[in-house]
Amino acid sequence: MRYLLGNWKMNMSLSQIDKFTDGIEQLKPNIFVGVAVPSIYYAYCYKLKQKMSVGLQNVSEYVSGAYTGEISAGMLEDVQADFCLVGHSERRQYFGETDARVNSKLKMLLSKNILPVLCVGETLEQYEANETRKVLNEQLTQGLAGITATDDFVIAYEPVWAIGTGKTATETEIDSTCGYIKEIVKQILGKANIAVLYGGSVKSTNSAGIVNLPNVDGALVGGASQNADEFIKILNTFK
Ligand code: PGA
Repeated sequence: MRYLLGNWKMNMSLSQIDKFTDGIEQLKPNIFVGVAVPSIYYAYCYKLKQKMSVGLQNVSEYVSGAYTGEISAGMLEDVQADFCLVGHSERRQYFGETDARVNSKLKMLLSKNILPVLCVGETLEQYEANETRKVLNEQLTQGLAGITATDDFVIAYEPVWAIGTGKTATETEIDSTCGYIKEIVKQILGKANIAVLYGGSVKSTNSAGIVNLPNVDGALVGGASQNADEFIKILNTFK
């Protein structure tokens, strides 16, 4: 399966969602297309959900109870969310999400059969210190602790320095790093062919060269997913 996922982050309004939904027409049948929306708008996206998958950007690591402001995996199941991001770099950077917490969240989603999209990636500092593989190895080893080969999830490789900056890694770097992630997941879980998406300043002008790389199974798109025309243009670059 190949994937085109959007991440609206803390953006969009009711009227912008209407405009986006109206702008979505024909999708590609063999590609999983979806957007991760702000949770308060999830229910409003019922019309969009008739056209594409709709997911969330975060989930609680707790089951239920006195956790003010949190949303549980059981609630995601209840509203039939199609997928959920876990461990996005902004969650790691601004909300103290450690690999251990990311691992708990991943397990919560799996227990409710919500498809997790596990986000991993190195910071600029780590990239410049040539630590990309070491960092990914750590994030995956800890993030996937206790997960089994039969569990269904997707990985998004997003170099932190490429998110929202207009900078993308080179196609050679992207392909070899996504290939490395597949190898590590195979070593950890014995699971071959895990889907690995690339994220970080993907737009219609650069996506053709990225999403069709041999080790890349699609894209996780931030800024460029807020506009239906641009999002569909990206989808049309999938061969
Ligand atoms: P960007 O964001 O496409 O705006 O760089 C990607 C992401 O954070 O998922």
